[in-house]
This record gives sequence, C-alpha cells and structure tokens, in this order.
Amino acid sequence: MNIDTKVLHSYPVVDPNTGAASIPKYQSSTFHQKAFPEKQPYTYTRFGNPTIEAAEQAVASLENGKYGVAFSSGMAAITASLLLLSAGDHLVLGENIYGGTFQLLSELLSRFEVTYTFVDERDPSAWEKAIQVNTKMFYLETPSNPLLTVTNIQEVCQIAKAHQLLTVCDNTFMTPYYQQPLALGADIVVHSATKFLGGHSDLVMGFAVTNVAELCEKLYKNQKIIGSIPGIEEAWLLLRGVKTLTVRMKQASANALTIAQKLLTLSNVKAVHYPGLEQHPDHFQHFQQATSGGAVLSFELTSKSQVQKLFQQVKIPIVAVSLGGVESILSYPWTMSHACMAEEDRLKAGVKPTLVRLSCGIEDAEDLWLDIQQALEGEENEKN
Ligand SMILES: Cc1ncc(COP(=O)(O)O)c(C=O)c1O
Repeated sequence: MNIDTKVLHSYPVVDPNTGAASIPKYQSSTFHQKAFPEKQPYTYTRFGNPTIEAAEQAVASLENGKYGVAFSSGMAAITASLLLLSAGDHLVLGENIYGGTFQLLSELLSRFEVTYTFVDERDPSAWEKAIQVNTKMFYLETPSNPLLTVTNIQEVCQIAKAHQLLTVCDNTFMTPYYQQPLALGADIVVHSATKFLGGHSDLVMGFAVTNVAELCEKLYKNQKIIGSIPGIEEAWLLLRGVKTLTVRMKQASANALTIAQKLLTLSNVKAVHYPGLEQHPDHFQHFQQATSGGAVLSFELTSKSQVQKLFQQVKIPIVAVSLGGVESILSYPWTMSHACMAEEDRLKAGVKPTLVRLSCGIEDAEDLWLDIQQALEGEENEKN
C-alpha cells in the first residue's frame, strides 16, 4: 500500500466497538474489571489506552515498523530510548543535534555515568573511529536541527551492526513520508510528533518505533515506569493530523524548495542550508536515503540587525519555537531551540547568532516569498 493510502487506512481508523469513523477519545484513567481476576486488555491508562494504541499503530505502520510506543513529547521518546543504556555505557552521536538531546546527555545522563562522543555526522569513518570498548549505541539525527547536515544512515547503521551496537535515528525532520530509517538499518526511530506528524502546532507528543519485540518491551517499560505517556486528547489530535501528513508534506516541501532557491539570490543572505538544493554539500547523500529536501531550511544573514529586521517585519510566518505546523514558523535557534546549550557549544556546532530557521507551512509559495523578501529587503516599517 502506498503511504498516501496508508495515512488513512493502515491502522485502526474506525472504532471497533461502535463503528465511529474517528477513534474516540477514551478519556478514562482506569477501566472496570468486570471479570476480575481474569486479565483484560486495558486496566489503567498509564499501562495502555485504546486511543493511544491507535496512534501507536498509526505511526508504526507509516514507518513500516512492527511496534510503536507513544510518549508525552519527543524528548520523552528520546529519553526512553537513551535509557536503554546503563551506567558505564558510551554512545556516539553527531555534533549537529537538537539542543534538547544535547542537554539530556550533558546535564542528565552524564550524572549517571553515561559517556558520549560527538563526531562529524557526515563522515561514517568518524563514527567507527569513536567506538570504545564500552560503546553501546549510535544516535543519529538526519537532516540535523538546525543546520540540515546529513548522515549516511545505511553506512553508519552497518558500522553499528558490525560492532553489535544499537542505532537510534531521529526522523522528525523528514517524517516517514520522505525517509524510513528502519529500512536503512536503524533499530529504533524516534519522533517529535509535536512537529509534522501532528502538523497543526496544537499538541506535544513523541514516538519510538522498532521492529524488534525485545526493544519494544523495554521501551514500553521505560514509558510505563517514567510515566511519560501522552494525553488522550493529544493522541486523538495526532490521529486526526496524521491523515493529512502526505498532502501537508508535499505542499510545505515544495514551498521550502522555492524559498531556498530564492533566498540564494539575495545579497544579505550569506548561506542557505537546505538538502533539497543541489548546492547543498550533502544533497547527493540525502537523496540516496530520502525522497525530498523536506519543509525545513535555515539560512545565515550578514548581521544580527538583519535578523532583528526580518523577525520584526515578517507578517506571514509566526515567530516561534517549533516547526512542522501548517503555518510557516520562523525560529531563532540561538535563543530558541539551542538556547539550552552553552554559547561555546552552540558556536562549535555552527549555531551562530546570524542563523535563522524557517519551517515552511502550506501557504501559497508566492505570498510567503514576497513576505520574506519585503522583510529582508524592504524599508523598515511599523509591524501591523
Ligand atoms: C529534531 C528534534 N528532535 C526532538 C525534538 C524534541 O521534541 P519535543 O519538543 O516534542 O519534546 C525536537 C524539538 O524541536 C526536534 O526538533
């Protein structure tokens, strides 16, 4: 089944109990145990809930995975995955990474004697060289946030397999519509479903998907013990949002390519980071493993005052933390997604004070471009 059809039909979309065309919000913390002491499928929502389970099956099926585990946020999914490690273990990860993942390692897991090495994620040999006797995991994020660098998923996963290491891959930016890391050798795919999977900037949620029953059991156990389950309302909104994933991604990615190409022509834009551009250094590798450049790009302006002018003058994109909504979202990684990293670490990772990230929405491309162009090039004027 093609994924355009799968988003609507490859998981429970009709309520088995009533035939309702939308899985209801089973808004209940607990379940009456009529046949006590016999076992029943649902007992307590932290251990399982039909609305959450439908969402888990939806995302698992889109990733072509057997098992999906839902979490209260992307960070909760990443935390549950990294908690497959134990004290004394080491992991390798790319130096271009979401700020929250960096913080999880540097401020929390490091206190529990988990050690880590950052490598140039674009160079598979760097991953191999970083392996130590106690290395247990490779953690990938491709394309990365916010510089859109690309990791060769297949090659890095092969290296991991040769050394009996687990691989976890954050697929938030591409979504399963454009990239499927499990098929490329990853053991676990994680998502911030807050972004494109939900798609409407109205929920916070995360997922981990795997084909390995034992990993699924461990992830469920972590989710249950930590209590990082999503809310019922969020699971329902996710189910609603995922049905339009493919049409949203098509329009938003076409917009991103148009905007990226046009930004290249402006004199006050120093660099454009978008893997959909042929000029992007990882363009070829990206299209070996994904079918689109996606809907997110970042670009560097010539000065901080240009950044300020852009944010003050722009009218269509909302200025906000996050990405992946139907509306375009303009962010400033320096003080938003990567603010939790020390200034020195941000600069080392290439997150400069002149860097701007744009998550394209599904607006008309020309309207979006004209707005960005006037904000970058026009006279300063009063914001409406
Ligand atoms: C690539 C990536 N992974 C994970 C996360 C964390 O997701 P959440 O905010 O849902 O916890 C984010 C958030 O921006 C992200 O961009």
